[in-house]
Amino acid sequence: MTSESPIVHYLKDYQAPQFEIRSVLLEFDLHPTKTQVINTMQIQRVSTNEDLVLAGEELELVSVLLNGQEVIEQCVVDAESLTIMTGLSEFELIIKTIISPEKNTALEGLYRTSGNYCTQCEAEGFRKITYFFDRPDVLTLFTTKIVADKADNAVLLSNGNLIESGDIDGNRHYAVWQDPYKKPCYLFALVAGNLECVEDQFITAEKRSVALKIYVEERNLDKCEHAMESLKKSMLWDEARFGLIYDLDIYMIVAVDDFNMGAMENKGLNVFNSKFVLAKPDTATDVDYEGIEAVIGHEYFHNWTGNRVTCRDWFQLTLKEGLTVFRDQEFTADMLSPAVKRIEDVKRLRSNQFPEDAGPMAHPIQPQSYIEMNNFYTVTVYEKGAEVVRLYHTLLGEVGFRKGMDLYFLRHDGQAVTVVDFRNAMADANGVDLSQMHAWYVQAGTPTLKVETLYDALSQTFQIKCHQYLEGAIEDFKPLLIPIKIALISEQGELLELIPDVDSATKIMGEGKEAVLRLTQQTETFTFTSIVAKPIPSLLRGFSAPVHLEYDYSDSELSLLASTDSDSFVRWESFQVLALKALKVNIECYEKGQKLVLSSAMKQAFSGILQDHSADAGLISLTITLPDITYIGEQFEEINVDAVYHAHKWLRTALAEHFEADLLAVYKRLNQSGGAYRYHKDDIASRKLKNACLRYLMLLPQQFVLGKEQYYQQENMTDVLAALETISHSSHADRVSCLEHFYQHWKNDSLVLDKWFTLQAASHHIHAFEHVQELVKHADFTLTNPNRVRSVLGVFGRVNVLGFHRKDGLGYQFLAEQIIQLDKLNPQVAARIVAPFTHWQRYDESRRKKMHSALTLILASSTLSKDVYEIVSKSLGQSALQG
Ligand code: TRP
Ligand code: ZN
Repeated sequence: MTSESPIVHYLKDYQAPQFEIRSVLLEFDLHPTKTQVINTMQIQRVSTNEDLVLAGEELELVSVLLNGQEVIEQCVVDAESLTIMTGLSEFELIIKTIISPEKNTALEGLYRTSGNYCTQCEAEGFRKITYFFDRPDVLTLFTTKIVADKADNAVLLSNGNLIESGDIDGNRHYAVWQDPYKKPCYLFALVAGNLECVEDQFITAEKRSVALKIYVEERNLDKCEHAMESLKKSMLWDEARFGLIYDLDIYMIVAVDDFNMGAMENKGLNVFNSKFVLAKPDTATDVDYEGIEAVIGHEYFHNWTGNRVTCRDWFQLTLKEGLTVFRDQEFTADMLSPAVKRIEDVKRLRSNQFPEDAGPMAHPIQPQSYIEMNNFYTVTVYEKGAEVVRLYHTLLGEVGFRKGMDLYFLRHDGQAVTVVDFRNAMADANGVDLSQMHAWYVQAGTPTLKVETLYDALSQTFQIKCHQYLEGAIEDFKPLLIPIKIALISEQGELLELIPDVDSATKIMGEGKEAVLRLTQQTETFTFTSIVAKPIPSLLRGFSAPVHLEYDYSDSELSLLASTDSDSFVRWESFQVLALKALKVNIECYEKGQKLVLSSAMKQAFSGILQDHSADAGLISLTITLPDITYIGEQFEEINVDAVYHAHKWLRTALAEHFEADLLAVYKRLNQSGGAYRYHKDDIASRKLKNACLRYLMLLPQQFVLGKEQYYQQENMTDVLAALETISHSSHADRVSCLEHFYQHWKNDSLVLDKWFTLQAASHHIHAFEHVQELVKHADFTLTNPNRVRSVLGVFGRVNVLGFHRKDGLGYQFLAEQIIQLDKLNPQVAARIVAPFTHWQRYDESRRKKMHSALTLILASSTLSKDVYEIVSKSLGQSALQG
């Protein structure tokens, strides 16, 4: 990386493809180190007379036949492409290459995992399989022939339908798959190996039977039931909610242990990280079960939003990802609790996306440039992208949104399109102008929405003045279209009828007791009439836009909203704001060396919530859980790590002490063992509340036995892990034996063993850093398995505030050294692990310097990948070219 400066790709440089591929036949002769790929393409020129340039990396080129003639001598080959000089307008090209799946530790292209073969092509991995137009706007018909050793590869899979198979001599066999749908190469997949499968079927709304198959290693056959149920639910849901029906006769999912991300939506043949397939009550937690349901849904939903309608170029990634995340969020909301799901998504957005959007890697949901596309599969593109799709939904309503979706598929089925095409479909289907929405796609950063209100008793009017701005973007800020869902509440806690004045009526949607203010200007005032007494505004209900809300609520208003508002997001949020206020006060006390305090407002609100037996247990547990350390840190320009950590811990402990009896009562009421594990929202909610109470109680040394008992009850993994987590944070003498017990029990199940690594990497134990240094030397640790790497290194950097941010800087140095090693094996995963360093400018001077040195150390590595280079150089402000 040091020798050449990397190429930056810009959206503004987009050019339509110069060639079309009518069809492609891929013939694989599988071998661990010498897999031969014969790629036969029928090509048609669409442009004038440019040379043919195909992308290809790490390929051993054997031959190139142009209309049957060997032309390898006339080709120009470099590290990233193959150029063929030809003026022909229609021709057949046959390219033979050799690749080594065994040596592929980057897990991109064709690689080996647990002795099996699998592929990962998105975003630009197909070029590591063969020379091709590796771009999403070149769609073609794929036929795939796989030849392999029978003993090692009983199963041979690819996209579409199996059209032929048979034996070749005694110990080899083959299979031919044909995909009837045109697709870009990033959706190509091949899987081969000794896998077993669980089968089921789904009858579509059109009464067609679809064969459902989940392929896993034999020992995992008993862990597929939940994934299969999730798949059937997803299929049914997409038919009911969006009228979208599956389009092939077979749907296959393969679970592999070595995978860079969560899962991949390859046409008819999804490849999954086994973490998002395998589950049994004693091995998987509620969070795992929910994750499986959501990711199975997500990949299934991609069949329409991503595959049937795909992206023109990678700058449009949010077209398929933002939309598909929105769809999976809605799916989860319908399967479980909508209120809990919404709050969890907001928490995730604030703790992960807001910091990204405020840091050196900030980019709009449609990035304008990139060095390595894999670095742009971000929470911004995915989660903020989903929030932007939700804005359309809020603005158009469920019926209007559905009309827009229908028009989108009607217009663009089989095409590779842009975010503008999506917006036009939404607008045209509803006869509205949505052009202002464009600013959400091209402007990075989280906007602030500042609200002020004015009640006039004489005229009985209530004014809501809204002002939007973006930190740091004063000159060129383009006002966003922000839908602000509101209600007005009387002092008795009742919702008021909303009657806008004449001017405001045109800018307000909805009627009755809830309305949406359509903010389109930088500053706008909305006025409501016939308000007989000063109301309390309930703002940004359901978190109707991804903004920072600023409104000066008094503690008593927040308490009232927290206990009575009809919108569960606002109820939760009001308590969070109260807690944040209390935390800020205590952070300041800590900094000044003063005594920390538990305010009466906090006590009152906390007790009200704990006492509220009518509220949903899931909501109570979310509410009593204080904002996490990352989100608290985000409130400060300069983060005082020690003060944040100690104030957070002190306040939690103070609440535990003050409410010990109440927490214990709730804990005991919910800790009824005996029943079999059920994946059901009520059961999940009560486990969640029980374990939220346990987390508080375990801060009190006298309650340690609760956690230990819950651990040894071995009821289900949700409860076992919650208990072990609290034990792992403690310094109790039994900590080591509990962790050892878990290890002995689960050392042969890699997904469960990941949890054991995670608990220790996240631990608040005073020697957590030394423990993590030992963990990377553990016989079960390896840099070649992404899940294991994330469990230790990812968790350490992201979660372990005390260890990573050690004053002496050893935490930084340790992680930097690990990243340099990892980068040599797997750049994509290494680049993700760098993330915690990117916020270096937010810390105190001493830490800033040490983090800067660690980043500089990484940048100096002689073998740096462009993945890590891009993140590190942008963080250091050295890249002239920011996303
Ligand atoms: N498209 C996949 C999804 O969102 C994610 C993905 C992108 C991915 N690149 C990847 C998965 C690389 C694994 C490896 O569902
Ligand atoms: Zn996706």
